Formats: sequence, structure tokens, C-alpha cells
Amino acid sequence: MTTAQSAPKTRNGTARPSAQRTIPVRRLDVDMNSVEINRWIVPEDPIFSNLLATLSAVFPRGEDFFVATVRANKDAVGDDEILKAQVKAFIGQEAMHGREHRRINVVLDEQGYRTARAERGIDAILNMLIKLKPKTLPLAVTAAAEHLTGIFAESALGSAATRETLFSHPEIQSLITWHALEELEHKNVAFDVLEKSNSGYVIRVGGFAITIVVLGGYVVFETARCVFNDRRSLTPARYLKHLRNIPRQNLISPWSVRQLVKYVRPGFHPDDIETDYLIEEWRTVLSEKTTITAGVGKTRDKSNPTG
Ligand SMILES: [Fe+2]
Ligand SMILES: [Fe+2]
Repeated sequence: MTTAQSAPKTRNGTARPSAQRTIPVRRLDVDMNSVEINRWIVPEDPIFSNLLATLSAVFPRGEDFFVATVRANKDAVGDDEILKAQVKAFIGQEAMHGREHRRINVVLDEQGYRTARAERGIDAILNMLIKLKPKTLPLAVTAAAEHLTGIFAESALGSAATRETLFSHPEIQSLITWHALEELEHKNVAFDVLEKSNSGYVIRVGGFAITIVVLGGYVVFETARCVFNDRRSLTPARYLKHLRNIPRQNLISPWSVRQLVKYVRPGFHPDDIETDYLIEEWRTVLSEKTTITAGVGKTRDKSNPTG
């Protein structure tokens, strides 16, 4: 068993928090099949609404890709029992996220969002990326994408203004905060498997570049396409509403760009961005809306998972 003394260290010489973390897998006890949405997820803001719908649309296939790339490199984990358990929990958590986002994507599709088109688009892209060689490169894409989802998660959980602006719909907020909590809990996993593979800095940064240009670029392209398709709905009043919403949230902001570029610093580790206080807070907040199905806490008080 890895101890605090033998665990990987941060730049300050202290044990990295993620090196001891036990990750639970939860079921979200909110029925995503029966969510009622009155067209715009973000009230009267078709631009942010289409961005969130596009993100939700690409998540399930993206999460399948994340799991496949970690599985393809699992031999690199060796006899690190804690990381092995974290990989298992990571796979469990991502599978649950994919399931719930698929459900909400059907609801969104019925409301006029083009989630099915985005699912097909991301599927074609990821089918190409999974074939990249060496096999650590698709894993590096996953590690960088997990950094990106970690920033989204920090924004959703750490900024009440962002939640009020973008996720005011109650069931959507439950979905996003549950997903965000688990993204923070497992944000080190793909990165640590990549480090164990000794693939080096060039592969890590190459994966980051692919993630930003190809995956980020596709989300921007698809969102713009959806907004163009909905252009008749984009009245001056709604456009003004969007402009007012921009400074109220930090999901898309100078702050999130600064968090993003930290990834390219040589020696960076996801633990360099302190988010454990959010994990502690949101494990309690979400305990009433989730049930732990695997990992720590399965047979104990679900509101108090340790790790
Ligand atoms: Fe996820
Ligand atoms: Fe993730």
C-alpha cells in the first residue's frame, strides 16, 4: 500500500493529494429521461445554450474514447495498486457520465438541438484519433481533455455566478455538478497513466495541441453551425442577453484560458491546481442526489466517502 511518505511528491515536496485518493463511482438519482426543457437551456441565450448542448453531445463518445485510450495503456500502470484502483473507478465514472449525457441528449434533440449531428461529427474525429501512433499519443489527447474538463468542473463547482448564469435549470445543474465533481476526483488518472508510460513532454504537449485544435476546434465549429441554423431565433434582445451573460460566468473567460495553458509547463501535474476543497464541499452537497455504487462508501454512509 502506498503511504504518504512513499507517494509521488508535488513541486513543494509534499505528497500529492491524488496519490492517496480513493474514487467512488456514483449513480445520479435524477431522471434525465424526463427532464423538461423550455427550448433554451440558458434562458433567452441561444449562443450559450447551443454551446452547452454541443458539449453534452460530444461527451458520451468522448468518454468512450478516454476509457479506450487508458485501457490501451494500462500495462504502464505496473504494480501501482492505488493507480490501478483509480483507473477502474475512472472507467466506472466515465461510463456513468456517458449514460446520463446520452439520455439528456435525446431530450435536447427533441427540443431542436442538433445533438445527433454533433455525436456523428465527434465520432468520425475520434475514430481517426484513436489510430494515432504511438499509442501514448491518443492517451495524451485524453490527459489534455481531462485537464479541460477539470477546468470546466472547477468553473461549475467553484463559481456560483457561473451556475446561476449557465446551469440555472435544476436537473441540468444536478447533471453538471455531479459530472464536475467526478471530473475533479479523477482528474489525475489519465495523466498519471501517461506519466507511467514514460512517453515524455513532446507527446504530452502534442496531445494537448490535438485536443485544443481538433476537439476544441470542433466544438467551436459545431456550436457556430448550430447558432447559424438558429439565427432566426437570435433576436437583438437575445443577443444582448448573451453579451450580458459573458462576464457573469467564467467557463469561457480569461481565467479559464490561464488555467488551460498551465498544462504546457514542464513538470506540470493536475494536482498543481488545488481543487480538493471543491471535492469535499460537493461530495456533501450531492450526497442526497447520488448513490455510490462502487469503490469507497458503497456499504457505508454515502454522504461521507473518505479519500
Ligand atoms: Fe466525464
Ligand atoms: Fe473525465
